[in-house]
Amino acid sequence: MDEPIPEDPCQGAAGRPPADDGLYAAVGGFAGIRAAADLLYRRMLDDPGLTDRFRGTDPDRLAAHQGAFLTALLGGPDLYTGGDLGAVHASLALSDADFEALCNHLAAVLRDLGVAPTVAAQVVDRLDPMRSAVLGSADG
Ligand code: HEM
Repeated sequence: MDEPIPEDPCQGAAGRPPADDGLYAAVGGFAGIRAAADLLYRRMLDDPGLTDRFRGTDPDRLAAHQGAFLTALLGGPDLYTGGDLGAVHASLALSDADFEALCNHLAAVLRDLGVAPTVAAQVVDRLDPMRSAVLGSADG
C-alpha cells in the first residue's frame, strides 16, 4: 500500500524548489544525476556548435560541479561548491541558442539513461529560471 501523500503547502523558500518533490528520485538519485552530468558534458564537447565554449575547461571537474548543482536543484542534498552561476558564465557570452542546446542535450541524455520523457521535461523546465543569470548581458 502506498503511504498517504502529506498535504504540505510549503513550496520552499522564495525562488527555490521544494526540498524534495520526487524529481531527485525519479532521475535515479545522485548516481543517476552524476551519470547524466558526465554524459551531458561529453555530448556538449562533441557538439560542433558548442565545442569552442569548452576549450581549456576540465570536463571531469565540470561534470562533478554540474552533478552537484543538479542534485541540489532537484531536491537532493546540497553539495554544490562551485561559483555563482552568473559569474561563472559571464565571460562566455552565451546565447539563447547555447542555452537551448544544453536543454536539448540534457533531455536526450536523461531519456537515453532510461528516465521517462515527462520527467526529463520537468528537469529541463527547472533550469529555465536560470536562463537570464547564465546568459547575463550577452542575451540580446
Ligand atoms: C541552466 C543552465 C546551466 C547550468 C545550471 C550550468 C551550470 C554550470 C556549473 C554548475 C558550472 C561549474 C561552475 C564552477 O566550476 O564553479 C558551469 C560551468 C560552465 N558552464 Fe554552465 N551551466 C548552464 C548553462 C551553460 C551553457 C548553455 C553553456 C554553453 C553552451 C555552459 C558552459 C559552461 C562552461 C564552458 C563552464 C566552465 C566555465 C569555466 O570553467 O571557466 N553552461 N556551468
